[in-house]
Amino acid sequence: MTSTYEWIDHTYDVVVVGAGGSGLRATLGAAQEGLKTACITKVFPTRSHTVAAQGGIAASLGNMGPDDWRWHMYDTVKGSDWLGDQDSIEYLCRHAPDAVYELEKWGMPFSRNEDGKIYQRPFGGHTTEYGEGPPVQRTCAAADRTGHAMLHTLYGQSVRRKAEFFVEYFALDLIMDDEGVCRGVTAWKLDDGTLHRFRAQTVVLATGGYGRVFFSCTSAHTCTGDGNAMVLRAGLPVQDMEFIQFHPTGIYGAGCLITEGARGEGGYLTNAEGERFMERYAPSVKDLAPRDMVSRAMVMEIREGRGVGKNKDHIFLHLDHIDPKVLGDRLPGISETAKIFAGVDLTKEPIPVIPTCHYNMGGIQTNYHGEVVTKKGKNPDTVVQGLMAVGEAGCVSVHGSNRLGSNSLIDLVVFGRAAGIQLGKTLKPNATQPELPKNAGEAHIARLDKARNAKGSTPTAVIRDRLQRTMQEHCAVFRTEESLAEGVKKVKEVHETLQDLKVSDRTMVWNTDLVETLELENLVANALVTVASADNRKESRGAHAHEDYPDRDDKNWMKHTLAYCNMDSGEVDIDYRPVHDYTMSDEIDYIKPKKRVY
Ligand code: FUM
Repeated sequence: MTSTYEWIDHTYDVVVVGAGGSGLRATLGAAQEGLKTACITKVFPTRSHTVAAQGGIAASLGNMGPDDWRWHMYDTVKGSDWLGDQDSIEYLCRHAPDAVYELEKWGMPFSRNEDGKIYQRPFGGHTTEYGEGPPVQRTCAAADRTGHAMLHTLYGQSVRRKAEFFVEYFALDLIMDDEGVCRGVTAWKLDDGTLHRFRAQTVVLATGGYGRVFFSCTSAHTCTGDGNAMVLRAGLPVQDMEFIQFHPTGIYGAGCLITEGARGEGGYLTNAEGERFMERYAPSVKDLAPRDMVSRAMVMEIREGRGVGKNKDHIFLHLDHIDPKVLGDRLPGISETAKIFAGVDLTKEPIPVIPTCHYNMGGIQTNYHGEVVTKKGKNPDTVVQGLMAVGEAGCVSVHGSNRLGSNSLIDLVVFGRAAGIQLGKTLKPNATQPELPKNAGEAHIARLDKARNAKGSTPTAVIRDRLQRTMQEHCAVFRTEESLAEGVKKVKEVHETLQDLKVSDRTMVWNTDLVETLELENLVANALVTVASADNRKESRGAHAHEDYPDRDDKNWMKHTLAYCNMDSGEVDIDYRPVHDYTMSDEIDYIKPKKRVY
């Protein structure tokens, strides 16, 4: 180890990395099981990106009309364009109501309907009668601040259960032993510059998505795919990274989210001719079509010269016909956001919007217990001992190639909870753990030290900007052979410029220059595998709209992509894993593929 650095060592049964919805739910679950649990997080828990989730959390409670978890499952499978694993989707939809009632019991301040039950609103792609019936009100909401309400509830409960929080610790890397077992994780404490080694029976990665790889996104600046990059550096693959969700209604210019709940409450989109164009693209569900379809329709309208504004490059979202009292009660947050970021009073004028990167369907491959799995010999789903992943960092895979709105918050709590249950079943509190190898974490420090002392000529912000613009241009809503091939080349060039990094601050205390540099390395890792996976998939499915291969090709491509990355060379290797074409129980049959029309 470099002589000027020293470790402070800790031992826990479970260490959760990340304190968003899934990280907190896993932390709480592990603590409930009597396990000594630490949660390390680079921001204060209630500032995690889940706080920005607006519209709600899907569960078939049936408070506003008939609903059934099987209908929810059907919609999720169809939404995924048949790339989701149906055993996991069954797990999600079956357990969703319990996970929501648990939040209610813990004090989450849901909005209420006239009967005093949890209020539920319509969201895109959620229907009744296995897609044959009308849209359903399935999305449980706390006005348009559902993530905020959820995070505060879960943080309070975790503290109550005596989970320990290590706040403003930046996780560096996983400690893997020679047998490929995860033994812990290392972290840098930002406020005093100390370095920490956490030994654990199990590490749970709950590090969120990597939206910041794009120039325009709804994600917080902290969404840099740190866990995905740690897994890649550990030599494990990530799955289905080509599937990036663009949310139809990011504010034009600013990228901030205007919830899909706005359309759920009756909002609609228009083009320059004032036409409600979604009626042409999705005649039955119109503005409440799934996000991939609405985003594509908006881009088509703009391409065909029917965009609004001086440059005809965006679309209008109307809420000005809705009773201001309803807007005040149900959408108070976006009323403020529209005023601040678009200068619009949404009770009187439309909001200028554009599809904006919002969510990563891909991530770290897991089973529905949250255990990380990988291909070993003939078994594509071999458990990696000591390692779990949940939330947007994980790919369980319930969203397949396109996630339905409000299925993210439910994914966080259902699989955070599942991880807690599995930890309780598989670990013994205070069990003896093997000593860490003497050199554990040495390579992590070497990487940090190299970045800290980088004396090149290109500042971190310049490289990041290059990366984000490349991804925005070459890996967006529509893709072509040419744009993707160019994207692969350009992201590799960005990877090479990491050799010319210039870091100006050499201190260890609150060195944001160094934090952003380590985050940039993580972003580059995510970008390399994303663009390579997109370039590799020769079909269109869900959010991957390939103009040279416009159709879904189940014969050749109904399979998950696994991407490995050599972090030194930037080379990506692609492999595959079969989609689970079976359910978890015999209470529902495998939902057979068909054409995805709405
Ligand atoms: O539009 C929204 O409120 C976002 C919800 C989601 O991504 O699930």
